[in-house]
Amino acid sequence: MLPSLYYWVPKRYGSSGVQEDPEARAGRQQVASETFHGDPADVRSIDYRDGELWFLDQTQLPERVIIERQESAEHVWDSIKQLKVRGAPAIGIAGAYGLVVGLRPYRAFGREAFLEQAKRLAAHLDGARPTAVNLSWALKRMLRTAEAGGGDGAELFAELEREARRIHREDIELCRAIGEHGRGLIRDDIGILTHCNAGRLATSDYGTATAPMYLAHSQGVRFRVYADESRPLLQGARLTSWELRAAGIDVTVITDNMAAFVMSHGLINLVLVVTDRVAANGDVANKIGTLGVAILAKHFGIPMYVACPSSTVDLATTAGTEIVIEERCPEEVTQFGLRRTTPEGVSVRNPAFDVTPNEIISGLITECGIIRPPYVQALREAFGGRAGGEC
Ligand code: MRU
Repeated sequence: MLPSLYYWVPKRYGSSGVQEDPEARAGRQQVASETFHGDPADVRSIDYRDGELWFLDQTQLPERVIIERQESAEHVWDSIKQLKVRGAPAIGIAGAYGLVVGLRPYRAFGREAFLEQAKRLAAHLDGARPTAVNLSWALKRMLRTAEAGGGDGAELFAELEREARRIHREDIELCRAIGEHGRGLIRDDIGILTHCNAGRLATSDYGTATAPMYLAHSQGVRFRVYADESRPLLQGARLTSWELRAAGIDVTVITDNMAAFVMSHGLINLVLVVTDRVAANGDVANKIGTLGVAILAKHFGIPMYVACPSSTVDLATTAGTEIVIEERCPEEVTQFGLRRTTPEGVSVRNPAFDVTPNEIISGLITECGIIRPPYVQALREAFGGRAGGEC
């Protein structure tokens, strides 16, 4: 392995405003990062080993495959905000481990003081991104574990470390099960349109919308994936094409405004996307542009399925209109890479997600099977009254 490189973390979004542990701040000024030299198909978005948390820096893909050690909760907050780690399930796992990393300096505290720090850091991490429910879901689960645990700071810390690993492992299982339930939708010679990156990079492994693709591919099914480039941050062009190509899956990148063209030419038989939050009525929030794809799919009579692990189901939100949509900084829209593409001073909007109404969704592919309308009842039956994991 090459020696670590060191550089300053750019603060594109400024500080989160939380009081940071001085020890953690000192450590964060120099950030350890390494180039990953293995097979791209083997790199993982999140790795926790020997008590150290490493993220693949997805902002650098596809040019560079860099993994970066996370030094503090503040550092994890920045990494989530800047989309170094991204995708709903991955930011849930990142938040859980981020809490562990942030609590490391407080292990010698007594129980009450440790719990106080845990609540403070969880609230802080939860503020990094609002739309994907997985972040708050994972942090709430971590806090419940801490509160239920016995002993002092050191014991609670050990319990939280185990819980974060469990959340990580469970995500792999959820994605694998989604793959098995969605596999039947993929037949030889079909074209699949996907949006954003709902792949391995957005989860711990397999991905959600990509899990059926990986499984079908491993069983010798031949199909073609069209990846929307997904403006403004190009998760489809940079990430989906990168990971599918690494896996040997036939992938073609199109710009977002080409979706109608490929559909009208009969090249798409199935739309497979994912979601960052599913409301109790089956409305789904996903990367901006998903709503347009759904409307097109309906127009052309193409089935549209949404991969949906239980960690993205939010039965407390009645309908999609209640979902908070993250607005990101204007620079993501006013420039393309480093090049300015709009006149100085022009107004822009940058909502990162939109909501697709349940009535134009053919089904939700969950780890418990494919859920079909009416969603209110089906979602309540599948996920009401359980924390997730078992069906
Ligand atoms: O802003 P991002 O890149 O985190 O957006 C992610 C999405 O909208 C994804 O489709 C979703 O979270 C992927 S979940 C496997």
